[in-house]
Amino acid sequence: MEEKNVLWDSLSVLKARIEEELDTLKNSKELYEFKNVYLEGKKSKLSELMKGMRELESDERASYGKAVNQLKEWAFERFAQMEEKMRELELQRRYESEKIDLSIPAEPARIGNLHPITLVRNQLIDIFAAMGFEIYEGTEIETDYYNFTALNTPQDHPARDMQDTFYLSPEFLLRTQTSAGQIHVMEKKQPPIKILSPGKVFRSDDDATHSPMFSQMEGLVVDKGITLGDLKGMLDVFVQKVYGEGTRTRLRPSYFPFTEPSVEVDCSCFECGGKGCSLCKGTGWIEILGAGVVNKKVLENCGIDSEEYSGFAFGIGLERTAMLKYGINNIKLLFNSDLRVLKQLNEK
Ligand code: DAH
Repeated sequence: MEEKNVLWDSLSVLKARIEEELDTLKNSKELYEFKNVYLEGKKSKLSELMKGMRELESDERASYGKAVNQLKEWAFERFAQMEEKMRELELQRRYESEKIDLSIPAEPARIGNLHPITLVRNQLIDIFAAMGFEIYEGTEIETDYYNFTALNTPQDHPARDMQDTFYLSPEFLLRTQTSAGQIHVMEKKQPPIKILSPGKVFRSDDDATHSPMFSQMEGLVVDKGITLGDLKGMLDVFVQKVYGEGTRTRLRPSYFPFTEPSVEVDCSCFECGGKGCSLCKGTGWIEILGAGVVNKKVLENCGIDSEEYSGFAFGIGLERTAMLKYGINNIKLLFNSDLRVLKQLNEK
């Protein structure tokens, strides 16, 4: 009699616990765990109640079984209601977390910029292409012959000391100057020649204004009757395009083995107009490139008749041009890939 009451009591205890438990569930994971513990499987609380039936007298079994089944039906119905409620709740939570506020201003899209050296290179190419120059791009690995000997700088020539060279073997080296391109072009083609040769060059040199790798742009014009005057005329047009109208040029005597005469070209300071400032160190002039009349020996080395033809050549350092143009005093800023610096230069 005693046992019988305990069994009937546990039916109402379980019902109350189910109701209580269902109220505490926070998500569907907890709901399915609840289903395992209470409703489903041989070890669930409901199954355990069913097993208790064995201890009852046969006359009571039927009514007890019926009561358990009712409880079971009720519990599954409550579960189904809860399942539906959880589904809606979780959908709602997802909507909340994925909600997009269309009134928030959009983040500006970040687009890339061209590197200052590329900008300078493109600008110079545009200027010279408009004057009729063709582009010739040589190779970064050169032979000693093209980089030096053919440019009138044989093995024992003191001018070899002007450039600290990275040799790969006694014959091959990393080109120290784009001037090597002059020889390749003149070997292949008779005048008239008008080429521009941009590219990277390499020297064992490293400080605030020098880098072991830098960029140059070589120009070469060979034809009948070309003089230093043609060079000067072309340079005047060039500096006005790069540094602004009113910029003047001046030629100072210099020395390069492959030009005779050789000149160092200055332009009037584009910062102060020639009065003298910190950029031009008070002189009113800024050195921009090396140039000269092509040495007859160089023409002859390439099989060009130096009695019939003459030419001029020039070499521009692109990093130096960019540093002047953007007002930066350390060449490393151009190579460090610091986006803050590059972005500022692009805004100039
Ligand atoms: N190759 C020279 C250098 O790297 C620059 C140069 C000077 C090139 C005079 C020329 C030139 O074509 O005529 O220092």
